[in-house]
Amino acid sequence: MTRIYFNEVATRDGFQIEPEFVPTDTKVALIDALSECGYAKIEVTSFTSPRAIPMLRDADEVMGRIRRVPGVEYTVLVPNRRGAERALEAKADELNLVMSISESLNRANLRMSMAESFAALQDVFKLVDGRTPINMSLSCAFGCPIEGDVPQQSIIEWAKRFADLGARGLSICDTTGMGHPAQVSRMVEALQNEVVKTRPELQLTLHFHNTRGMGLANVLAGVQGGVVRFDGSLAGLGGCTYAPGASGNISSEDAIHMLEAMGYDTGIDLDRLLGVARQMPGIVGHDVPGQVAKAGRITDLHPAPV
Ligand code: COA
Ligand code: ZN
Repeated sequence: MTRIYFNEVATRDGFQIEPEFVPTDTKVALIDALSECGYAKIEVTSFTSPRAIPMLRDADEVMGRIRRVPGVEYTVLVPNRRGAERALEAKADELNLVMSISESLNRANLRMSMAESFAALQDVFKLVDGRTPINMSLSCAFGCPIEGDVPQQSIIEWAKRFADLGARGLSICDTTGMGHPAQVSRMVEALQNEVVKTRPELQLTLHFHNTRGMGLANVLAGVQGGVVRFDGSLAGLGGCTYAPGASGNISSEDAIHMLEAMGYDTGIDLDRLLGVARQMPGIVGHDVPGQVAKAGRITDLHPAPV
């Protein structure tokens, strides 16, 4: 049975776009509950400017208070050197660096040109100096909401550049849900052939948003291409405040439910996870996109109508 590794991003990507501040105690309790569900990794928060992402202004406190369950990696999003210093101080298990492969979106999101971001991130690699693994997230890899098409070859070139800097992993991110399954298949094949083949230790992750309903189809294209690592957000929350038109990530529990039904081993206790997913509307104060938490699993049958 193929093992699939899930990274839960609800408390970072999921929360950062929410209008109402989620209290620190609630975030800590949620992460502690997620830690019991069998995730390979949890993206706890981001060490960004508190003015840019006010929801995650409590990042240092959250990292200090969560319970670290052995076997789960606790990662954090980092945009610059200041963020990396905070992440090291917080003893994150991994730094997830981010840059958009689109000048317009990188400026909108990180207030830097791509060249400035690259210089800042090179500086982070030097600062970290192998003490903590680094994952590199390439945003807008399947299309930019401002510039349109993002050439696949430029993703490949940036992927190689960061792999050669020493990244342990790469996340290829469809930040605003513009990718379709045929595109995902082509991208995965190119990444496998041109980047991973010569660097077999490199961890390749796919990060999808379900903005146009193509999220799970894209996951399927990914697994069929041999990818075993995916990001998902509990209840399908998520989106980048600085990316026009962004909306929720793929729902972790929907993706995990689908893969389990197909015979993949996700390592997740799905019943427990669904229990946590059902708390989400109460936590964020509104309905959420995730479907399996509402419909039940395909094995949850109904009594015959009388
Ligand atoms: N953590 C905390 N504070 C930070 C910081 C970090 N990682 N990076 C910068 N700051 C602070 C600076 O100390 C400075 O504070 P001051 O005004 O009190 O002196 C202020 O933010 C501005 O610093 P500057 O370097 O000029 O940053 P900026 O205003 O150009 O913003 C980013 C750049 C990258 C910090 C900011 O755009 C950001 O955090 N973006 C994250 C966006 C994001 O997470 N998007 C969603 C995920 S993809
Ligand atoms: Zn995202």
